[in-house]
Amino acid sequence: SSLRSFNTFGIEQRARHFAKVASTDALKEALSWAKKNNQRPLIIGGGSNILLTKDYDGLVIKNELSGYEKIKEDEDFIYIKVQAGEQWHSFVLYCLEHHYAGVENLALIPGCVGASPMQNIGAYGVEIKDVFHELTALHKTELTKRTFSLKECNFGYRESVFKNIYKDQFVITDVTYRLRKKPVYHIAYGAIRQELEKRHITELSIREIAAAVIAIRSSKLPDPAKIGNAGSFFKNPSVPIDAYLSLKANFPGIVAYENADGSMKLAAGWLIEQAGLKGYRQGDAGVHEKQALVLVNYGNATGNDILKLCDLVMQTVSDKYGVPLHPEVNLI
Ligand code: FAD
Ligand code: EPU
Repeated sequence: SSLRSFNTFGIEQRARHFAKVASTDALKEALSWAKKNNQRPLIIGGGSNILLTKDYDGLVIKNELSGYEKIKEDEDFIYIKVQAGEQWHSFVLYCLEHHYAGVENLALIPGCVGASPMQNIGAYGVEIKDVFHELTALHKTELTKRTFSLKECNFGYRESVFKNIYKDQFVITDVTYRLRKKPVYHIAYGAIRQELEKRHITELSIREIAAAVIAIRSSKLPDPAKIGNAGSFFKNPSVPIDAYLSLKANFPGIVAYENADGSMKLAAGWLIEQAGLKGYRQGDAGVHEKQALVLVNYGNATGNDILKLCDLVMQTVSDKYGVPLHPEVNLI
């Protein structure tokens, strides 16, 4: 069946088999069917961080597990367990409504709760690891349940154990987040401060922060409903401080942020834009005109068209700055 409506890039590829699962029993059934019939299972949520490069020769399982549950609370925190198929942004709205703080900076990130720990989603100075308590996962072939604590997920910048040592081994079935009853505001990110100023916000609240984040995101990120994309296509690369200083000597405008370990994280969008590729287009594959880190599908690009553009961007950036870029999107 066609996967076009199940990936936000809007790429037309097919799955040999396809199933939607709305309960853990149905999920187990689908996984054991896949095992028995020798079909590789691929779990998808919103399909907002994948690039399909060919037809999928196996079973694609669309996760539709739903429900919220308040697990416990103490003086400072409240713990909410969310099923993996829930929309991430709906969860953010739920938290705003109940005055649970911690996820307001992560408003409007597409996709499902189950994918949020995969790459430790992040935006505007907050990452999922800051509100993560634990998750439950099902082993894809043994069908055993396992809990992962914060420590066991080994979260990093756009990284977790599910993207490396346990790649393709587990299906995340629920995630428990730890929200604050009294908010701690994260407004160090320049764009947020500017937006709050523009709105003449004098008294901060999680709602005002979410509104600012939504306004910023809407002004530069393409809406997948209108133009196919998967958000940032590349990670922002880090370089040692001396490499940064020599880049800075050659490219005084270069944008970078200091990492905790003293290395510098470069804004890949700047590197791509200054290499002349912002708005560049090859057929239906393009570099977004408002945010150069985002590759877009103007209509009928194939996964390979996007990959070709990806290669061109990586080559151009490497030639000009000597800095390698790495895709952030999961290539399937
Ligand atoms: P999918 O694309 O369905 O899956 C992504 C990967 O996770 C795949 O490898 C899939 O197999 C695996 N997976 C999915 N669900 C499960 C599960 N339950 N168990 C195990 N593995 C699973 N990301 C950010 O971090 N910050 C941003 O600011 C941001 N902005 C974005 C803006 C736009 C316009 C778009 C289109 C994307 C953006 N993204 C951002 C990327 C994306 O929204 C996130 O990575 C999101 O978490 C993906 O969720 P999904 O359900 O769509 O995952
Ligand atoms: N910039 C340019 N030109 C561009 C784009 C960016 O010069 O075309 C420069 C600007 O100086 C800008 C800076 O780069 O100030 C940073 O840009 P932006 O704030 O848009 O953030 P980003 O580094 O491009 C990252 C994440 C986003 C996340 C935002 C906000 C990665 C790979 N991407 O983008 O996440 O929303 O920060 O925190 O880390 C995603 O993962 O899909 C995603 C959208």
